[in-house]
Amino acid sequence: MTIYNGYLLDYISGMSMATDNGQSIKYEIHNLDDQVDNLLSRLELKEKFQLLTSQGWTKMYSTNPIKRVGIPSFKMTDGPLGIARHSGGFKKATRFPATISLAATWDRNLAYEMGKAIAKEIRAIGRHMLLAPGINIHRTPLCGRTFEYFSEDPYLTKELAIPVVKGVQGEGIGACIKHYAANNQEIDRRSSSSELGERTLHEIYLKAFEEVVKEADPWSVMGSYNKINGVYGCENQYLLKDVLMDKWGFKGFVMTDWFATRPIETTEGCINAGLSLEMPIPNKYKRKSLQAALDAGKFSEDTLNDAVRRYLRVMFLTGAFAKPSELPSGAINTREHQELSRKIGEEGAVLLKNEGDLLPLKLEDVKTIALLGSNLKKKFGKIGYGGSSAVVPPYEITPFEGMKEKVSGKRIVSNPAEADVAIVFVGLNHDKGMDSETYDRKQLELPDDQVALIESTVEVNPNTIVVIVAGSPIAMDPWLDRVPAVLMPWYSGMEGGRVIANILFGDVSPSGKLPITFPRKLSDSPAHKESPRTYPGDEEKKVHYDEGIFVGYRWFDEKEVEPLFPFGYGLSYTSFDIGSVSFESDILSSPTDTLTVNVDITNTGSTAGSETIQIYSHDVESSVVRPRKELVGFEKAQVGVGESKTVSIKIKAKDLAFYDVDKQDWTIENGDFDLQIGTSSRDINHTARIRFD
Ligand code: BGC
Repeated sequence: MTIYNGYLLDYISGMSMATDNGQSIKYEIHNLDDQVDNLLSRLELKEKFQLLTSQGWTKMYSTNPIKRVGIPSFKMTDGPLGIARHSGGFKKATRFPATISLAATWDRNLAYEMGKAIAKEIRAIGRHMLLAPGINIHRTPLCGRTFEYFSEDPYLTKELAIPVVKGVQGEGIGACIKHYAANNQEIDRRSSSSELGERTLHEIYLKAFEEVVKEADPWSVMGSYNKINGVYGCENQYLLKDVLMDKWGFKGFVMTDWFATRPIETTEGCINAGLSLEMPIPNKYKRKSLQAALDAGKFSEDTLNDAVRRYLRVMFLTGAFAKPSELPSGAINTREHQELSRKIGEEGAVLLKNEGDLLPLKLEDVKTIALLGSNLKKKFGKIGYGGSSAVVPPYEITPFEGMKEKVSGKRIVSNPAEADVAIVFVGLNHDKGMDSETYDRKQLELPDDQVALIESTVEVNPNTIVVIVAGSPIAMDPWLDRVPAVLMPWYSGMEGGRVIANILFGDVSPSGKLPITFPRKLSDSPAHKESPRTYPGDEEKKVHYDEGIFVGYRWFDEKEVEPLFPFGYGLSYTSFDIGSVSFESDILSSPTDTLTVNVDITNTGSTAGSETIQIYSHDVESSVVRPRKELVGFEKAQVGVGESKTVSIKIKAKDLAFYDVDKQDWTIENGDFDLQIGTSSRDINHTARIRFD
């Protein structure tokens, strides 16, 4: 297991805990499972029941301690942008960019570093588990939590979620991947049923969960609010027991989303499905209900023990029983974390348009600058803002502050007609229905007053730059043609203003790539094919995923719909030449094989920059319908002016597979696969053929 690196073994070996009679018991290091069983055997039945939930309304993120045997409270905190204020003892913490911004970096190392930094902050405040990352797939661009999730693509999601989990757990803090599963909208999230076929479920909506479980061993999974084909996530025996535990070998524990068990009918339904923790208030896991169901033989003591055992094991792994001095050190609000937050923001910002190379701006050419728009002075780090992910940082640089710092000495005005350049900061703001948990967005367009501001600005100043601070796609058709430059920095964390200023003035060349397709209009998006059937759900609150596996760019390719901006797209201040492509071998012969594609790249422009080479596969001949393109590899490379590099990209045979409903498993059919190699899903420079034999 990944966390068994030196220091963790050390503290597990030294582990001790106070007991009923005040003495200290030494736990043997070498056999974690024996230690867990030993502790379990000392618990009375009612104590086992007690362990499976939190301390109630005032301590919703801390489980019940069992003092008699020295079990402390296990403490969690919300993520994924850092320690969310409401759940982290009301402490201020580093606010990292939104997950969609991290995904737009296409940088596995930054994902690892972000996970590690958040874990260090959690350690510093004495908690044990991060309730993140959220790895649901972007099905509709309107989903209120699009900013909290990575991508419309399962491969990109898992490639970045795996290092986040490894980064977190490498520090001995637990990660809890959520919301399992097919939780793709906020409207009716507690009552709707996601209706989808088995192939779609596994190939699109479960794939990232499966891969993260297999590759990163997360210590917890959070069951979702919604039903999946009629059965709630937290009592879904197929998803929890059969797939997650038995098929994928998940060793951690499952907890509910907050109050997710309320509409569920039975206690035994949850425990027999494999649910350990009911959060935050006992409902199905009230002691009396558990006792009655056990007495009636509706579940067995073995099943109860398994639920408790899984949870105790994670307590050990996170050092819940260890003395603070035995644990890896924590650190919160450090300069390093703030710089990391800025770096992720800079790497994730996507330049969408740059006509006539208006950007980067040159300080010496700008004497008067107009700064406008509703997001110019907006702070996003407020408690509850956007929902459970709200981190309140010790400071937050607004776009205005970032720009002011950068252009010090220049004249800042609000009348665009007077300025050399006008920058309009528009977007969403984490208010209800504006990138916020519980509420989906109502429209893909910006609010009317923002569109009007863009239009009136560009009318009087042709050098207008639009900066969109938002966490989900925006339709731009009414104004895009008239505006020369558009930057999408997302919600770029507590250093957001500096991120934006550094990009606009060329200290950093933009390199972010879209992790989600930007449709021209909502009806182009597959989830909005037939309202209300496909979204937000019919009169029985069934949401029919009629598009099947054709989610995101898979749909736009298949239906030949022109997106506003395609998946994987993003401009740079420099230009790159993608040269020749070579393979060490172009044959894969088993599902565990990998092959390496070498791609030459040259920076042909006049500034250093980074480009992300993306590889999409297409199964040339298949017994089932396959998408025209599926992302199977990528690598981001930094290339200096005039420099040439060879970028090596690994392709895993298993990522060429489809989910075979007959076999109930993944299948790679023998034959040819075309690898489409390029710089976005719609900018393909080379196609090369490989074989699976
Ligand atoms: C959210 C979860 C969150 C939990 C605890 C729920 O409303 O869906 O993502 O972890 O609350 O705050």
